[in-house]
Amino acid sequence: MCFSMLCIIHNLFPPPPLQGCDPCSQTQRSKLQHRRARINQQINKEMRMRAGAENLFRATTNTKVKETVALELSFVNSNLQLLKEELEELNSNMEAMRTPSRNEAGLELLMEYYNQLYYLDQRFFPPHRTLGVHFHWYDSLTGVPSCQRALAFEKGSVLFNVGALYTQIGARQDRSATAGIDRAIDAFQRAAGAFNYLKENFSNAPSLDMSGPSLCMLVRLMIAQVQECVFERVTLTTQDTHFITQLQVAKEAARVSDVYSLVLQTMSQTLVKDYVPFSWASMVQVKAEHFRALSHYNAAVALCDHTPKALFQFHVSTPAGPPLSQVLRDPEDRRKLGKAHLRCAVIRHEEAMRVHGLCKILRKMDILQEVLSFVYKRSLDKYSEMDREDDFEETAEAPEIHSQTQHKPDITAPNFSTVPVTDIFQRLGPLSVFCARARWGPVRVVSLQRGDGGLGLTLRGDSPVLVAGVVPGGCAQEAGLREGDYIVAVDGEDFKWAKHGEVVHILKSCSDRGVQLSIITLHTHDTQVGVVVSLCLDACVCVLHLICVCVTSH
Ligand SMILES: *[C@@H]1O[C@H](CO)[C@@H](O)[C@H](O)[C@H]1NC(C)=O
Ligand SMILES: *[C@@H]1O[C@H](CO)[C@@H](O)[C@H](O)[C@H]1NC(C)=O
Repeated sequence: MCFSMLCIIHNLFPPPPLQGCDPCSQTQRSKLQHRRARINQQINKEMRMRAGAENLFRATTNTKVKETVALELSFVNSNLQLLKEELEELNSNMEAMRTPSRNEAGLELLMEYYNQLYYLDQRFFPPHRTLGVHFHWYDSLTGVPSCQRALAFEKGSVLFNVGALYTQIGARQDRSATAGIDRAIDAFQRAAGAFNYLKENFSNAPSLDMSGPSLCMLVRLMIAQVQECVFERVTLTTQDTHFITQLQVAKEAARVSDVYSLVLQTMSQTLVKDYVPFSWASMVQVKAEHFRALSHYNAAVALCDHTPKALFQFHVSTPAGPPLSQVLRDPEDRRKLGKAHLRCAVIRHEEAMRVHGLCKILRKMDILQEVLSFVYKRSLDKYSEMDREDDFEETAEAPEIHSQTQHKPDITAPNFSTVPVTDIFQRLGPLSVFCARARWGPVRVVSLQRGDGGLGLTLRGDSPVLVAGVVPGGCAQEAGLREGDYIVAVDGEDFKWAKHGEVVHILKSCSDRGVQLSIITLHTHDTQVGVVVSLCLDACVCVLHLICVCVTSH
């Protein structure tokens, strides 16, 4: 019996070319995106109207006005509900159009692109200056477009997709066997890790889904799903029916309920509250109630069907009536306490079904409906089994079950080195030198002819080799070489990656007609170099664009 929610993905969109036009303006995807954004605008308008009406409602003392405003408020609220449902339905249509394949291969593709972005960032994006490159993305839940000039936004969005893809992989595992459950746990932990990494390291994203509170909510949601899988694992592997193992199941269920309650709390915070889809909040609430009910049910089964061999405290507070040590020894007392737990279970099941019934989208999930009805009926049956005709006193209120888990979820941080990539701009030379921090003069070509005193220069270092000094009046100086020049090519052949020894060797063996050296000089403040950088940048944007097209056409 598994039901797991959450299939979110930040939509992958290729960044438009520099002119700022949307290359996908004619596609089905972008039409959907625009509809999503439009509905979201309407939602915002309704919310402003609601805020105004609420203020008026509070401020006025006139009963007639109050009534009119109340009516208006109910209209606005039902409009809001409808708009949000429409948005969610559109979101589920987007689902079918998602791009990278939703499996390990899709993940690898995203990671590869992320790693490639690292190189692009180092090579072309100077630390203290923004370039005219815009990165366009759409919010995963509202479809609101956002745009930022920082490459970090692109990286963050890709990482968001990595997290979202992990949630999908997690949700798709077959959890009827432990192997599948373990894979799901692993995927949800990695999703939590990706969102957590975003929360800590990309805090300035312009879209709501990557705001701190949203990410915090997502991390907790992932943890809750891990905890739910752990519960499933425990129920699957504890076949022996002892009092203590049955209680462990009850404690695990209480734990799952606790973490879902925490998610619900996070979802009700400002900024997140009006943003999270109604069905998500409903689902989380259903789960909190459902697992609370299961904890009571399992405690009841432990008390009624098994004989404890020792005293166990498993409540958060002491139950009313005789001391627990006595209850556990006496079958009739145990039956009564068990019945009290079943009563709590039934109440919680009913609450879960009530919340479920309020949400149109959840009502469409047949499996969820089945699970809720099944466990409800099971608790009712057990209750009637425990009920005696001579039970005259009112069934007491049972305390909550102490929450405890055998597996504390981990937040698995993304490991970027699992997908090695080759820098696509490798031919520009080593990254440590040919990067955006360094400003280079244009390439100069000098002809060097060996004189009586040799070449008249000393070399140092590798990749690229540095001219460490020139002999005054020597050949090198005559030819125009200066201390601090870097040798990037010899006789037209690329030498940017060359080792010291290779350059020395080729210079020693050069024939009488001499060699041609291509050299560059490092200028930290040379404005002319800007041209070189922006020329490279054009290429970079094209490649960026190409990568994205690859990603989206997969
Ligand atoms: C944030 O980034 C740093 C290094 O870039 C990393 O060590 C750290 O683990 C990241 N934070 C999280 C929560 O993953
Ligand atoms: C990350 O992945 C690399 C390559 O698979 C591996 O060698 C390394 O141990 C991993 N690091 C962590 C922290 O798991």
